[in-house]
Amino acid sequence: MSAQLKKKASYEATFAHNFWKQTFSRVPAIPDPIELTGKTVLVTGANVGLGLEAIRNFLRLRPSLVIMGVRSVEKGEAAATKLRREFLDARIEVWELDMESFRSVQAFAARADRELDRLHVAVLNAGLGKLNFERVEEGSRHEVTIQVNYLANALLSFLLLPKLRPTTSSSEPGRLSIVNSGASLAIRLEDPGDGRLLESFDRPEKFDGFAQYGLSKLLVMMFVAKLAQMINPKEVIVNCTDPGATKGTDFFRNVNSWFMSIALRAFMGLIGRRTADASRIYLHSTLVLGEESHGSWTDWIIRAWPKAMYTDKGHQMGERLWDETIEELKFAGVKEYLQKDS
Ligand SMILES: NC(=O)c1ccc[n+]([C@@H]2O[C@H](COP(=O)([O-])OP(=O)(O)OC[C@H]3O[C@@H](n4cnc5c(N)ncnc54)[C@H](OP(=O)(O)O)[C@@H]3O)[C@@H](O)[C@H]2O)c1
Repeated sequence: MSAQLKKKASYEATFAHNFWKQTFSRVPAIPDPIELTGKTVLVTGANVGLGLEAIRNFLRLRPSLVIMGVRSVEKGEAAATKLRREFLDARIEVWELDMESFRSVQAFAARADRELDRLHVAVLNAGLGKLNFERVEEGSRHEVTIQVNYLANALLSFLLLPKLRPTTSSSEPGRLSIVNSGASLAIRLEDPGDGRLLESFDRPEKFDGFAQYGLSKLLVMMFVAKLAQMINPKEVIVNCTDPGATKGTDFFRNVNSWFMSIALRAFMGLIGRRTADASRIYLHSTLVLGEESHGSWTDWIIRAWPKAMYTDKGHQMGERLWDETIEELKFAGVKEYLQKDS
């Protein structure tokens, strides 16, 4: 439905709109009688911040199993131990997942394939911003922000599709939501000409950490919009979820200037939501909104896509990005995961 909201895109990208939304609107409660008995929920990047609070919010709805996808099992188990004390009957498992490594993403998905009968809800929340240019050490050699926020999420989305699909014709569709950010709303895409789009994001000489973060999230929305065209929403509903500016997370851990760190924390203190409220948005995107959110940008309602996606150039680049992503991830046979849906 975001596809039909072009007229709202410019306004929704403005600072004024986002400031107003952050300051004066409250994230609604999850309506009764939603509950998750008999269901399995996955949240990645779940040891701290929004991911951890999302797990807490999901646990209140009594799922049968919650999986915390984390890159440090030690940190994940420390967080899970506290949750197990709060939710005495809950089944909480900590699974290793390093989004800087395609191999780790594949191992994680293989474990899901082996151990789960069905995955009902997946929130791909793990993400980061970097102030300096760094490449991932293993495999793709892409810049880290693009790898973690975009490419690894794209790979994981494909690989989880089989477990997200219903096992019987009467079961509900699986829910897949990738976490986005308002930082992508006003990003412009630069056409690299004949060069590859993905490689054009790997240029240290052009690197700007804030813009790269917004760009990586714009790529996620473009990917989700196209993925939604390729899969049946009766089987899996896919969307992006935006928690909005949130205080009290570790997101600014890489900021090494004390001045910038104080300024960002002061700004977040002013407009940021509490993690408990912001992470409830993930539940709106996966449990409250339905088929109408397929391929859309969501919080508790469906919003417009980032402006760039409504232009002809944005559309063409979305197609190119899709082709390049399929090519980049062909080592994992991702096309086959799509074909099962058609
Ligand atoms: N905070 C905001 O204002 C805000 C606004 C809009 C969107 N978001 C998005 O919300 C999500 C969560 O952010 P947050 O604010 O909660 O930040 P956070 O507290 O820093 O949490 C980020 C999570 O992602 C994990 N992660 C980072 N790199 C990873 C990797 N290579 N492999 C696996 N996990 C990795 C972190 O694990 P470690 O602890 O092990 O590093 C952590 O669990 C991100 O996608 C972010 O872009 C945040």
